[in-house]
Amino acid sequence: MRLAVPAESDAFEPRVAATPETVRKFVALGASVVVQSGAGTKAGVPDRDYEAAGATIAPDAAITLRDADLVLKVRRPTVEELGLIKRGATVIAMMDPYGQEDALAAMAAAGVSAFSMELMPRITRAQVMDVLSSQANLAGYRAVIDAAEQYGRALPMMMTAAGTVPAARLFVMGVGVAGLQAIATARRLGAIVTATDVRPATKEQVESLGAKFVAVEDEEFKQAETSGGYAKEMSEGYKAKQAELVASHIAKQDIVITTALIPGRPAPRLVTAAMVASMKPGSVVLDLAVERGGNCELSRPGEVVEREGVKIVGYLNVPGRLAATASNLYARNLFAFAETLINKTTGSIAVNMDDELVKATALTRDGAVVHPNFQPVA
Ligand code: NAI
Repeated sequence: MRLAVPAESDAFEPRVAATPETVRKFVALGASVVVQSGAGTKAGVPDRDYEAAGATIAPDAAITLRDADLVLKVRRPTVEELGLIKRGATVIAMMDPYGQEDALAAMAAAGVSAFSMELMPRITRAQVMDVLSSQANLAGYRAVIDAAEQYGRALPMMMTAAGTVPAARLFVMGVGVAGLQAIATARRLGAIVTATDVRPATKEQVESLGAKFVAVEDEEFKQAETSGGYAKEMSEGYKAKQAELVASHIAKQDIVITTALIPGRPAPRLVTAAMVASMKPGSVVLDLAVERGGNCELSRPGEVVEREGVKIVGYLNVPGRLAATASNLYARNLFAFAETLINKTTGSIAVNMDDELVKATALTRDGAVVHPNFQPVA
């Protein structure tokens, strides 16, 4: 089996889909691994480390992808890349499939078997393959570091000979994987941390990290978690009550980090321009949901917007801002899944279509979009 790791063609994607560690494991499974020259550069992995792990280095995407049976990527392949991949090849990546009908149709037309890592079910067996968790955890950590950098003051309380520096007040909105790591990181840096979420289960998690929970805890809140563990879209009435509570709280904060998402839907709007206006000059809002439309009305993708002295930070691809760590974890997630698609005796791809992990993540196969949630509308 020939396995290809092309360099990411998106200039804003510094992560890489395989590391020397995972290359070694694929080689041990009998794969012949081809890595495009420079694929790991932005994640701190030089070509020679891939070579030492048993890979062959190819000079360009065309030679890397030629005759590949399995292609590992960070991002969904572009139409140009699809043109270099043979029909029937398996491609695994973070496919970002929602609202991307044309891109899915292009993958189907190219005849590839595409698997979307983000659709991995959150069951015990698949935890090691959970890219949403591995990447969101790093995003939550990095959000605090980035916000602290933008904030012109110190986070911990300091008692110095020149006087006392007060601790910063930091509020985390949305306590999933990213939010929990943001709370833990901010606590380690000495901030006074509060957090909110619409899922009742988060209250105990927030408190166990030494932060204070702030939320409208009504009947709707008690029902806000889906069986899959995700948040539901809340009613307009709840959102109004939530906004009222949050508005007075935000006015007293130095840093607000928002991470709230609802799968397959635009991010909920939680921080209005008026709330930003109520914050002290020098405060920071960091919107981790900016790629899904943003939790803050004023955030702009890829920009740091300044309004009356408040910075609204909308960095894109925050896990990519820790490219080496993010790649290490992502590559392990990919290996864990890819390994289940490889027949250990023959060393070739053998997809078991009855496997629940395969059913949940398979997007295209044999020229068609096969995932029930992404069927083209006639
Ligand atoms: P996510 O990235 O989809 O959303 C982030 C957070 O935003 C969630 O906690 C959500 O409840 C919250 N949110 C949505 N609307 C909101 C609003 N209007 N106001 C405030 N907060 C709002 O969530 P993530 O990080 O993917 O986690 C989702 C769930 O999956 C959690 O229950 C988590 O514990 C669970 N999980 C399970 C795993 C497993 O069993 N293998 C692995 C990782 C996470």
